[in-house]
Amino acid sequence: MTSPSRRQDPAQAWDANVYATNARFVADLAGAVVDLLAPQAGERILDLGCGDGALTQKIAAQGADVLGVDASDDLIRAARALGLNAEVANGHQLAFDQEFDAVFSNAALHWMPDPDAVIEGVRRALKPGGRFIAEFGGLGNVAKIIAAIDEELTGRGHPGLAGHPWYFPSPQEYAERLQTHGFVVEQIGLIDRPTRLPGDVGGWLDTFADAFLRVLDPGARREARDKIVDLLGARIRDADGVWWADYVRLRFRAVLAS
Ligand code: BEZ
Repeated sequence: MTSPSRRQDPAQAWDANVYATNARFVADLAGAVVDLLAPQAGERILDLGCGDGALTQKIAAQGADVLGVDASDDLIRAARALGLNAEVANGHQLAFDQEFDAVFSNAALHWMPDPDAVIEGVRRALKPGGRFIAEFGGLGNVAKIIAAIDEELTGRGHPGLAGHPWYFPSPQEYAERLQTHGFVVEQIGLIDRPTRLPGDVGGWLDTFADAFLRVLDPGARREARDKIVDLLGARIRDADGVWWADYVRLRFRAVLAS
């Protein structure tokens, strides 16, 4: 999965090994959006923000001709190592012209803070009648995690995460944007999806929020990270000791007129 795109924030470092350890669940939980895509054999599909290619590979296995794009060199290297067709690209500057039957995206669009530039690039990339199917963080996504990071940073005299870089829109807002760019929105909605983390929330913070803690010097950074884990222990860990990220997904299917 995401400055300009999942994996396009220069402050956000993407390491394919760290991602595989702490965020494999991102692809594992994407069954519903892949089903909504319903890839057909022979279709040409763009996987926007393909990350390490875990889903690109699933879509290709259904017989589609898939190109994965992502802004992270490291993740694109990992995708290519799977034998996939994948290239580095900025989601705000897609340079395709009526080439794809479908554009697919999972857990990536929230890293792209200029949705109109993204949607317009997707529109250009699609053939007439093409479809745009995606899932990403919607309104309220990871609100508890953001609040804890914010509390810890503001407590240390930093501005906190009030202006965090993620884009988590409401369905209404995103549908209007899609319509403005010529799409007919066939389905859109928020899905509450508390997501079981593979360990404690520290792995999530290391993978996705390290950039925010880098405003602190290295000693304070580790202390702050551990404090955030403590704060969240009381909020997102259940009685069995399992940690649940408070994910809210926005999932949609939109089509262009033919
Ligand atoms: C998400 O997939 O919802 C997400 C991942 C990293 C940072 C923020 C949100």
